[in-house]
Amino acid sequence: MNKKIIESEYKKKIKLLINYNKNYFDASKPLVTDKVYDDLKNSILILESKYSFLNSENSPSKVVGFKPSKNFQKITHRAPMLSLANAFGREDLINFEKRILNFLSKKDDFVLSYSTEPKIDGISASLIYKNSQFKIGLSRGDGKEGEDITANLATIKDIPKKIKSKDFPEEIDIRGEVFIQNSDFENLKEKFANPRNAASGSLRQKNPDDTKKIPLKFIAYTFGYQKGLKINNQIDFLKKLDDWGFKTNPLNKLVAGVENLLTNYSKIEKDRTKIDFDIDGIVYKINNFELQKRLGYVANSPRWAIAHKFASNKAISKILNIEIQIGRTGALTPVAKIKPINIGGVIVSNATLHNEDEIDRKDIRIGDLATIERAGDVIPHIISVDKLKRDKKLTKFIFPKKCPSCGSKTIKEFNNVTKKEDAVRRCSNEGYECEKIAIEKLKHFVSKDAFNIEGFGKKIVENFWNLNLLKLPHDVFNLDFNKIESLEGWGKQSMENLKYSINQRKNISLERLIYSLGIRHIGLENAKILSKYFKSFSKFISFSNKKILDDILNIDGIGETQLKSIKIFFDNNVNLNILKELQKILKVKDAIINDKNGLLNEKTFMVTGKLNGISRAEVKSLIEVNSGASVSTVTKKLNYLIIGEKPTKKKVDKAKEFKITILNQSQFLKMLNVSS
Ligand code: IVH
Repeated sequence: MNKKIIESEYKKKIKLLINYNKNYFDASKPLVTDKVYDDLKNSILILESKYSFLNSENSPSKVVGFKPSKNFQKITHRAPMLSLANAFGREDLINFEKRILNFLSKKDDFVLSYSTEPKIDGISASLIYKNSQFKIGLSRGDGKEGEDITANLATIKDIPKKIKSKDFPEEIDIRGEVFIQNSDFENLKEKFANPRNAASGSLRQKNPDDTKKIPLKFIAYTFGYQKGLKINNQIDFLKKLDDWGFKTNPLNKLVAGVENLLTNYSKIEKDRTKIDFDIDGIVYKINNFELQKRLGYVANSPRWAIAHKFASNKAISKILNIEIQIGRTGALTPVAKIKPINIGGVIVSNATLHNEDEIDRKDIRIGDLATIERAGDVIPHIISVDKLKRDKKLTKFIFPKKCPSCGSKTIKEFNNVTKKEDAVRRCSNEGYECEKIAIEKLKHFVSKDAFNIEGFGKKIVENFWNLNLLKLPHDVFNLDFNKIESLEGWGKQSMENLKYSINQRKNISLERLIYSLGIRHIGLENAKILSKYFKSFSKFISFSNKKILDDILNIDGIGETQLKSIKIFFDNNVNLNILKELQKILKVKDAIINDKNGLLNEKTFMVTGKLNGISRAEVKSLIEVNSGASVSTVTKKLNYLIIGEKPTKKKVDKAKEFKITILNQSQFLKMLNVSS
């Protein structure tokens, strides 16, 4: 056979395999049966062994086990798998500690002790143990639902299958990181970009025998659901993990105070290369479990922990262009297109410039040589440009005064809190009339924390937009599937998969729905607060009603900024129409008011005056955890006014006028059976 024909035959097969993989990975069902898939894979391998000139990056010989499977059963985590906020330096840590001290209402001299744990850059997993036996192993998934990868996890030697210790809890989800040691990665270098990819790919193999071929390790560091755990601090828990037969990080350490955290950080960062696995920072956790419990969570991360990231890798490259990206809320973000460069194993060709002020302050110009920094999973950014090496012809970058997408005026808002003009310039449109904003809003609508439509990625949104298949959120539920089936790269099976994923999401919680609308300043936490207030979608839709507008300011957590932005949203007819259309299509589950049997059962509370040894934030969180609600003004609807030292007279008088029960701090805490 002619070399050219063989090559073209080979390329065709590779292309087909890529298509199968894409569908296998991006959709929940594969395009072809396993047999057809394996036959194709084998025919490629046979061709390669016959003709040494054949070679492709996407060959199954290069990518071990090939694309991971999507066909794992989904299981809800008994306790969600949270993420961590990031800190990048002393200032962030000082703020982190200040927030904690404020929440706990402690003075600055109160010493906080932390469990410091080098953060392994791997894949997290949750191992469910019942009666000392390893039963089920889950991936993190979206934090709420993981995938059942028990068979694959069971191949890892570091994961004990049976615990002999008598003091092992009756039930516990042990959580930790699956990773590959750098020395083991040496042999896999050809096939994967980095150890993390190798670990992730092999954990998601359909056949556990494929997983077994990769030397995966497991280090345990926390727990989810538990029954019968008798330990009261993190360092003791880590010690127990060792006793029970789990591997823990040998560099874990108890450290007190920010200054000591920084010393420990510098030491570990310096010795980082001597360790046989990749770490991308250090996790700090308040050591005491009682304090952890008091601190609780904000949105998806705990108040009591933070990941202090290592200052990354740096490199120098040329700025080829500065492009303006428009975000979902209209923010104009400048992005530097740089000459592609390898920074710590990752090819970087974009770096964020944050905003207009940053370009001015650093005097960044197109054509400059820039130092670019990349820290872990954070978007690369430009530290500085070399003004000495600058070509004299380079001119200052002029930030567009008109939106590059819709031509509307761009504006800088005045921030009432900082009393300064915002650093961010925005498109004044902020609605679906601006094409770029509309596309970003749609991407947000289908994204993980919003509608979470599997297989509906950013590229698909852009593609459907360009083909006029998708312009407004409710179009997601009225797609022309016949047309989609006939598009390049699509087929019957992949179209059916998408249809299935979309239909599955027609049942949605009110909280997710509110978040998915992408209202400015309404993130996950505020969406949750609003959903609890409105309770049902129909009440939310009737929002524009003036009485509700006044009432909503009374919800703790919703301030003037949020209210203004909600009003702007409801003043827009396009948005009202979207809500009406969505109401026709969706089945929105009413908000679940925590535990209706909570001690404060739907009662409303308000605090005035200074409390003793407990912060307002903690009182608020205690109220919510016990199914009550905290409000910010005295109205007839208020059930209890909690008064501390020097309460506002007006509020107390009003409460008396309305015959509202007034409590002092210890009476309130007694209601919760908490001692003061
Ligand atoms: S604790 C609420 N401890 O970091 C606690 N996480 O962004 C969250 N990680 O998904 C997890 N080392 O994959 C914890 N010692 C450690 C960790 C660690 C690495 C990863 C983990 C998690 C991510 C959080």
